Amino acid sequence: MASFSNLFSPDLIEGISDVLVSAEQIEQRVSELGRAISVDYAGKNPLLVGVLKGVLIFMADILRAITVPVEVDFIAVSTYSPETRDKGLVRLLKDLETPLNGRHVLFIEDVVDTGLTLNYLLSNLRTRSPASLEVCTLFNKSRHRLVDLPIKYTGFDLPDRFVVGYGLDHRERYRNLPFVALLTPQVVHSGRKET
Ligand code: PRP
Repeated sequence: MASFSNLFSPDLIEGISDVLVSAEQIEQRVSELGRAISVDYAGKNPLLVGVLKGVLIFMADILRAITVPVEVDFIAVSTYSPETRDKGLVRLLKDLETPLNGRHVLFIEDVVDTGLTLNYLLSNLRTRSPASLEVCTLFNKSRHRLVDLPIKYTGFDLPDRFVVGYGLDHRERYRNLPFVALLTPQVVHSGRKET
């Protein structure tokens, strides 16, 4: 805590126990991912698709780490209830504005946990006839994976812990931290689902 506690308001970092992935580590890895994507998608004008809201910070950074032309669009989903979430049923709140027919689509995620959200969205997007459809996730939590998913680019494999920061929230809080951190058990257990 000592290294960052003087940089942030005490009420922002209250409840944080440890930094799991530093801002420098994230910056380095995002830069590597951006280089790989730039090579693989040169000349293809890919469409980067993000699912709100957690992806917003990673999307902003990966876009700037890519050195070839790209376009970007967003989708928003909601679960009907905890029970339907467990079945992988999600509701589209905001659809894409861009037609996918014939496009090289790269789906950008902040974190894949059970994989149910991504599985639903990939099935949905595949029906729109993209030329290709691949996945890039910054964080991968595979301990509770329920569906096998083809993830082409992964930033970090994370342990089975509740993490916040760099877009990830706990009750909508902590998204604006530039690093990924662990919460104290007291805060975790006062919250909702873990991603
Ligand atoms: C997170 C994340 C993924 C999903 C992954 O979103 O952005 O979309 O959970 O979980 P899964 O693999 O178990 O389906 P969340 O529902 O927390 O919403 P948010 O992005 O608005 O915070």
